[in-house]
Amino acid sequence: METMAHSGHIRMRRLRRGELLRDLLAHSLLTPARFVLPMFVRRGENIRQPILSMPGQFQLSPDQALEDLSELAGAGLKAFLLFGVVDAADKDDTGSYAHNPDNAVCTTLRLVRDARLDILAITDLCYCEYTSHGHCGVLTPRGPAPDKPHAPTRRQHRTKSPAPADAALQRNDLTVDNDATVERLGQQAVLHAQAGADILAPSGMMDHATAAIRRALDDAGFQDRAILSYAVKYASGFYGPFRDAAESPPRFGDRRGYQMDFRRSAKEAVREALLDVQEGADMVMVKPALAYLDVLSRVAEAVPVPCAVYQVSGEYAMLKAAADAGWIEEKPCVLETMHAFFRAGAAFVITYYAAQIAQWLREG
Ligand code: PBG
Repeated sequence: METMAHSGHIRMRRLRRGELLRDLLAHSLLTPARFVLPMFVRRGENIRQPILSMPGQFQLSPDQALEDLSELAGAGLKAFLLFGVVDAADKDDTGSYAHNPDNAVCTTLRLVRDARLDILAITDLCYCEYTSHGHCGVLTPRGPAPDKPHAPTRRQHRTKSPAPADAALQRNDLTVDNDATVERLGQQAVLHAQAGADILAPSGMMDHATAAIRRALDDAGFQDRAILSYAVKYASGFYGPFRDAAESPPRFGDRRGYQMDFRRSAKEAVREALLDVQEGADMVMVKPALAYLDVLSRVAEAVPVPCAVYQVSGEYAMLKAAADAGWIEEKPCVLETMHAFFRAGAAFVITYYAAQIAQWLREG
């Protein structure tokens, strides 16, 4: 009783006494092997278009992407995540350009494979970059949502005359056709695998996408390619800069009909992740990162597979903007967020800072 009450001999500062002692006890140590760099590629040659809302990031044509990746692979980067940016003229209702083997993603994959770079190729599997309406799959009519009136108001009728599909979507009559979309995701996955993708990452939050992709890959003989499922992806405001970068904002409505509601408890996230594991996900992901550390921690503990985290475009933009304004110091603040992710249980981190981190770590 007396010893319990008397804690005077305990000194927490003893283990903070010097650098060596602090390093010895660090729970996470950073290595470039644990970071994945997202990249945006688009059709063409010699394109290196800065993304204004993400200073330091670019839309690249495949030749330029190869140039950067050759250099980065030499500098210690071990993995990249590819997104396609699609010219408006190549977009349609179903996102058919995603199935063109000569699109920017497939071309870049082949260039990287032929160059025999020592780097893992991950591809994002979704349709929002490829559809004219900007939703993550093919659309289908549906009944009225439980809380929304079905009929358009007279005012909407008179003031707007958009294309039929758009008008219907505004009236809440259209939604993403889940099962048709996951079948198509399977085809997209096979196409990416043929072009050299090592890891396929479905990001559309369609139910049973993982199962459909696993089946399609196996049927095509790609049993060896892994699935990194965006199992836990919230309908977040922090994707704003990405939608500029990928030129993929939904033209009408939003993504709350398929992405998760951040007002719900982390239990839903655990359920999503476990479902994807059951369907064959080799790894799962939580996204965004910084505002979801509780979710990351719960999910990482619950799943028997590696759990990644995605520090998204808006998180990058915030850090960049504050650093560029001189309000925070970039390197220590960025690395602090990385330690937070690993502490919360992340196996690896997808971040627009990946190349920069590799450089910082090289400099010591
Ligand atoms: C595509 C996709 C998005 C992101 C990754 N894949 C955008 C979205 O869902 O709206 C966001 C990435 C980022 O913000 O960095 N579905």
